[in-house]
Amino acid sequence: MKTLLLSADETEKAARIILDGGIVAMPTETVYGLAADALNGKAVAKIFEAKGRPMDNPLIVHISDISQIKPLVREFPEKARLLAEKFWPGPLTIILPKSDMIPDEVSAGLDTVAVRFPSHPVAQALISVSCPLAAPSANLSGSPSPTSAQHVIRDMDGRIDAIIDGGSCDIGVESTVITLAEDVPRILRPGGVTAEEIYAVIGEIEIDRAVTEPLAEGQKVSSPGMKYKHYAPKARVILLEGGREKFAEYIRLNSDDKTGVLCYNEEKDIFSCICIPIGYENDFRSYARKMFSALREADDKGCRIVYAHCPSKEGMGLAVYNRMIRASGFRVIRL
Ligand code: TXA
Ligand code: MG
Repeated sequence: MKTLLLSADETEKAARIILDGGIVAMPTETVYGLAADALNGKAVAKIFEAKGRPMDNPLIVHISDISQIKPLVREFPEKARLLAEKFWPGPLTIILPKSDMIPDEVSAGLDTVAVRFPSHPVAQALISVSCPLAAPSANLSGSPSPTSAQHVIRDMDGRIDAIIDGGSCDIGVESTVITLAEDVPRILRPGGVTAEEIYAVIGEIEIDRAVTEPLAEGQKVSSPGMKYKHYAPKARVILLEGGREKFAEYIRLNSDDKTGVLCYNEEKDIFSCICIPIGYENDFRSYARKMFSALREADDKGCRIVYAHCPSKEGMGLAVYNRMIRASGFRVIRL
């Protein structure tokens, strides 16, 4: 299949492809998504094939107006309304009991559906001129999520109908996924909206154990995505926990010309190995924005081992920690 490269003002062309049952990668404020008509099961099935995604991993449905959620869900409780009014459009995905409109391909057999209203103008324009869009991140299953059209081309060229180039994604890490389908709201995946921000709006929330812990063999998961190896580059990622001096010392003693470091901007000049800056220390928004492209860059530069600072679990740090701990296969060295 030849993959068309479209510019940000060609959403009508992209909409036509989607309404004909095709699949198109689109920019969002978090990461690029691979979109199909959410109500067309056959089109949605093409997403799974193109990504190599396990069929039991459900997709997020993207809308372009709060009111569009109503027909997709069986109930729209008060807490959902509060969250939608505060954080939509934006990087928050809300899970609710699904209506019969949602095809099984989207919900992967669950009786819930995940819904998000993205803030990116190109995503909004595309949804407005087509329909609600089912879209996972537009990477090959297991590899780092794409934050630029070039990343999508790298993974998906020849596998999908089109890619809309909307430049780099502003947030760089996926949306926060929260389920409201149970008694206590629970964050299944931390992301662009922090747990602290959500708590300020609806009070008591839980954070799923799988956000920070490895899954035990055979453990039941609330979000099927958490089962799979995720975000991993080819290089072996190792997180180092400790201050700058110990970090630098460890790397000096344990690196060669195939070693990469995801370093803070302040540290750029202190390493002799391959340095990939990820923003300033304690600025987890910048770490989030650069993380996935930095992991891809480490592979492009032929790194065999990549060392990175172990992020904190506060605020945006939690989203970064969740991705990096998985990218590293839970390898953390306490210095
Ligand atoms: O920012 C984002 O959320 C991006 C952009 C494109 O919108 N999308 C994204 O989709 O990250 P994806 O498919 O890569 O991740 C969605 C996660 C998966 O871990 C999936 O298992 C979970 O959300 N999920 C989706 N529907 C669910 C449901 N009904 N119940 C539990 N988990 C669900
Ligand atoms: Mg994904």
